[in-house]
Amino acid sequence: MTKDSWDTHATWWQREFTRGADPEYEEQILPLVAGLISETGRALDIGCGEGQVARLLATRGIDVYGVDPAWNQISEAMYRSTGEAYGQASALALPFADEVFDTAVACLVFEHISAMKQAIGEVSRVLKTGGSFVFLLNHPLLQTPGSGWVEDHMSDPPNHYWRIGSYLVEQESLEEVQLGVHIPFVHRPLSEYINALVDNDLLVERMLEPPPPPGFLELNDSYKAAAQIPRLLVLSCRKR
Ligand SMILES: C[S@@+](CC[C@H](N)C(=O)[O-])C[C@H]1O[C@@H](n2cnc3c(N)ncnc32)[C@H](O)[C@@H]1O
Repeated sequence: MTKDSWDTHATWWQREFTRGADPEYEEQILPLVAGLISETGRALDIGCGEGQVARLLATRGIDVYGVDPAWNQISEAMYRSTGEAYGQASALALPFADEVFDTAVACLVFEHISAMKQAIGEVSRVLKTGGSFVFLLNHPLLQTPGSGWVEDHMSDPPNHYWRIGSYLVEQESLEEVQLGVHIPFVHRPLSEYINALVDNDLLVERMLEPPPPPGFLELNDSYKAAAQIPRLLVLSCRKR
């Protein structure tokens, strides 16, 4: 279902979120990835989409491979490539030998994957000992299904707070992210991710929860109200 949705909506993703269209990518996500990856050598971009993270790494002289199961994403990545290599593959079965990459990155991908633990196992398998894994997610604590501002007019003065929802319940949902665009998301507690990393020898060295960047807050007044609610979680890990 995930692969089909991303094939169907690849053009939407490419139009709205790549080549400078999205302030969160431009002002925050791409600079953060650039700052966190210091390795040279060989890098794997898992769920690379149309390749914006892979292209960024390639500007460092890194030998970059990108994989994505959606043909309409990976074919666009090949078209936009500045020298990176791409292949159609799922994170669940990475088509690489053990311990061949110095770095792996997955940017806003694993919240679309049901078999998350299997995919983390694959990341660890293809990484060299001492290699790094930069893992970006929609914040699993604060961006739960149904999360958002609640204005409570029962109190005087009115209270407003951020609703979290059934945080502990793992659930898959098809979210309408824009009119007619339905994307499958899997919500799971943060501990599920952390424990999957630990179980696969991926040690968290750094955790970042940046506030939404200015360009994003300017898009909408309701975004400004949530300026102190992180949308992004970044885990910088190293394989033991
Ligand atoms: C939100 S997009 C992010 C694309 C890219 N990482 C970026 O940051 O521009 C999510 C991507 O995850 C991919 N994806 C979904 N299921 C996947 C899986 N099982 N293995 C690898 N990638 C997957 C989708 O095809 C889609 O391209």
